[in-house]
Amino acid sequence: MNLIVAVDKNWGIGKDGGLLTHLPQDLKFFKEKTVGKVVVMGRSTLESLPNGNPLPNRTNIVLTHREDFEKEGVTVVHSMEALMELCNQYPSEDVMIIGGASVYNELMEICDALYITKMYHEFEADTFIKNVDALPQFKVVWESEVVEENGISYQWFEYRRVKLKA
Ligand SMILES: NC(=O)c1ccc[n+]([C@@H]2O[C@H](COP(=O)([O-])OP(=O)(O)OC[C@H]3O[C@@H](n4cnc5c(N)ncnc54)[C@H](OP(=O)(O)O)[C@@H]3O)[C@@H](O)[C@H]2O)c1
Repeated sequence: MNLIVAVDKNWGIGKDGGLLTHLPQDLKFFKEKTVGKVVVMGRSTLESLPNGNPLPNRTNIVLTHREDFEKEGVTVVHSMEALMELCNQYPSEDVMIIGGASVYNELMEICDALYITKMYHEFEADTFIKNVDALPQFKVVWESEVVEENGISYQWFEYRRVKLKA
């Protein structure tokens, strides 16, 4: 199971139910990493997508406690246990956690790879994830050049789980 997220300097990821900014090249990166895969998201993130629709060309799994929640093109699960049972049907590397904060924070520590876009900017975020740099089990294995779009400098990082010494 892997995770993909864009964060600001304070590990902020969202504001008022939406993203912090629009970065076309980052969306392209997100698409490359997720098309053909299984994407897992919370109900709020699904609702933040255009018209609340699932992402095309991907298997969309949505977590909600709402027993009556239904959406065409979406597989709904109501607990982490049910999510894990469903995800076990797919190769682990094909499952991508795509947000939001509640789902990232619940699942981050069991992920193998984290694809993190670091934006070198402080936004007025209201939604945050844990500081991955403070988690000793994850190490950076790849980083891109710094790119700039819409006045925001940012960089992609791939973190991998490492074995901690006893
Ligand atoms: N920067 C990025 O890369 C990125 C990516 C994705 C999202 N975001 C942003 O993150 C924000 C949304 O994050 P969020 O934390 O507020 O919401 P979220 O994680 O998208 O969704 C939260 C909802 O998911 C359901 N849920 C979570 N854990 C569950 C569990 N264990 N069992 C059953 N249901 C569960 C609940 O739905 P019910 O309330 O229906 O029970 C919960 O209210 C938005 O601003 C969005 O734009 C940013």
